[in-house]
Amino acid sequence: MSNPLKGRSLASMKDLSPDELKLVLDTAAAVKKSPQEYRSKFANKTLGMVFQKPSLRTRVSFEAGMTQMGGHAIYLSPTDFKIGERETTEDIAIVLSRFADIIMARTFGHDIVLELAKHSRVPVINGLSDFEHPCQILADMQTIVERRGKLAGLKWTYCGDGNNVAHSIMLGGALAGMHVNIIAPKGYQPDPQVTADSQAIARKTGGSVTITDDMPGAAKGSDVLYTDVWASMGQEAEAAARKKVFAGYTIDMKVLGMANPDCVLLHCLPAHYGDEIMYDVTRTKNSAIFDEAENRMHAQKALMLLLAGV
Ligand code: CP
Ligand code: NVA
Repeated sequence: MSNPLKGRSLASMKDLSPDELKLVLDTAAAVKKSPQEYRSKFANKTLGMVFQKPSLRTRVSFEAGMTQMGGHAIYLSPTDFKIGERETTEDIAIVLSRFADIIMARTFGHDIVLELAKHSRVPVINGLSDFEHPCQILADMQTIVERRGKLAGLKWTYCGDGNNVAHSIMLGGALAGMHVNIIAPKGYQPDPQVTADSQAIARKTGGSVTITDDMPGAAKGSDVLYTDVWASMGQEAEAAARKKVFAGYTIDMKVLGMANPDCVLLHCLPAHYGDEIMYDVTRTKNSAIFDEAENRMHAQKALMLLLAGV
């Protein structure tokens, strides 16, 4: 079968068509089922991982995934080279792509991921920017398929900050024909361009994207309930003020009880228990948060296989 993703980068969920998203998710399921079939695919190949921010899941899942496929991953910490300070993003992309076969970058500005992709001669993967977190949403969707057997038609509710994770959920959910329901306070709702883009996609796929501040009312009948921290990396100084704004947006047992009985509870992690989510909710049978974390590795292995075309 031809691979339409070969040689491409993934900066945004918007970079994928509905068929390409399905290809990544089907490949992720195959990789998880039979990892041995992929164990030499990246022999003698190198993944360069550029981090401007901290990470547990992204770093370890990419590195372990590359090891499992016979390759090597190099972790480049925020202190190794300061993007745009020690040298330009353009030069970093050119130099790094002379050594590495694939690049993953976790950045503040989304423009840095786009600039790396523009000047790299190998695929660049967004491992989280201030604007999007596509790898997370691929793992989320793999987890939803495992639990519910499908994506199209499901109501996916996200409660909290209209941030990078929310943006990728809107675009990814729309691509898959899901009904994405963002509940966020006014002033913290998603970027209007992402709302317009995801609604345009949803019109073609039979899905929908709605934005509301009706918490918890709009969580009723959810098939997927999701939340993320109220203050993202880089917003630490706003944390106290945000805690006040988001009071009332916590996912607790009452909110879970409003969702469908077989609702899948997700959180990208790290969690701040007692703020955006209560600990007891994450230990119910509805919770798939640790399958979701594990699936980061399987989904990203699939993504790297497809982008590298190996
Ligand atoms: N969910 C996620 O991206 O986790 P890390 O920040 O630990 O990589
Ligand atoms: N929105 C969070 C996600 C962490 C995985 C952040 O950007 O910090």
